[in-house]
Amino acid sequence: TFTPRVFSGIQPSGNLHLGNYLGALKRFVDWQANDVETIYCMVDLHAITVWQDPADLRKSTRELCAGFLASGLDPEKSILINQSQVPEHAQLAWIFNCVARMGWMQRMTQFKDKAGKNAQNASLGLLAYPSLMAADILVYHATHVPVGEDQKQHLELTRDIAAKFNHDYGVDFFPMTEPVIEGAATRVMSFRDGSKKMSKSDPSDASRINMTDDADTIAKKIRKAKTDPEGLPSEAEGLEDRPEARNLVNIYAALNEQTVDQVLADVGGKQFSEFKPMLADLAVSKLAPISTEMARLMQNQDEIDKILSRGSERAREITAPILRKTYDIVGM
Ligand code: ADP
Ligand code: NA
Repeated sequence: TFTPRVFSGIQPSGNLHLGNYLGALKRFVDWQANDVETIYCMVDLHAITVWQDPADLRKSTRELCAGFLASGLDPEKSILINQSQVPEHAQLAWIFNCVARMGWMQRMTQFKDKAGKNAQNASLGLLAYPSLMAADILVYHATHVPVGEDQKQHLELTRDIAAKFNHDYGVDFFPMTEPVIEGAATRVMSFRDGSKKMSKSDPSDASRINMTDDADTIAKKIRKAKTDPEGLPSEAEGLEDRPEARNLVNIYAALNEQTVDQVLADVGGKQFSEFKPMLADLAVSKLAPISTEMARLMQNQDEIDKILSRGSERAREITAPILRKTYDIVGM
């Protein structure tokens, strides 16, 4: 049996957005309040699976850390790290590259999406991404991983890798980690196209709410969000074939820490012309203070760097013994 321990990460690959906040960050903060060890990571090694300008990567990593802190993560309560500063992540990933099978990686929908038509020209790292992700998690023997819905398949692969390692070496060394996909907005969709998820990696999507947006920008983007001509239903089933409408209600529920049915009990029957200003007010009240605090923290980058280097020292107290034991099991 494994002591409960929480790990999760976000890529410093551009703007932190509302989907990252509701699907991941806000949940990280919830877990921090529980009596378990929590480790949260800026995954820069994942970011470079597609080209990143070095100066931009450095800035995005600090900005992401500022976003973690401004959202309520406390470096005294959680271990905050930058992935490349804890070398055991990459070291364990190599072992896992030798445990995982090519076919497992080629089946991943995120790889297919990101590699596009010319998969032969994608980086080898992009293909191996889930193996590094498994190492990120298992190098802490983490038992719970709060993530958005898009990461479900990668978490299944993490369990497959743990199981194959344990089986191949005849040990019970790595835990079967549980994904924790919770809340009303586990998959926030684009405000421009309700069939696509809101994502950092789509630079052309100007409708995305970024965590650095000020109050006016947030309100404007919500006003412009695509909807359909109907009003709001009084029950969740009424949103079934209405992805844009459902998305806005999900966001409202997640920001207000309610269920979708609770929200609809209040706003059912209203038109979107009335609901959108309510959502805009709510979003501004929750998000604008975070962006203000991020800007303040970015004025003091030395402080951010110190938090991350202290975090990596604490992390290595956990990862170094687990890697040493893994090497021992493998015969190294
Ligand atoms: P992105 O997909 O924007 O590049 P990451 O891959 O770094 O972001 O994901 C970081 C975390 O944010 C993951 O837990 C992921 O599931 C979550 N996440 C990303 N996009 C969304 C979204 N649109 N809705 C909900 N959660 C999301
Ligand atoms: Na993602």
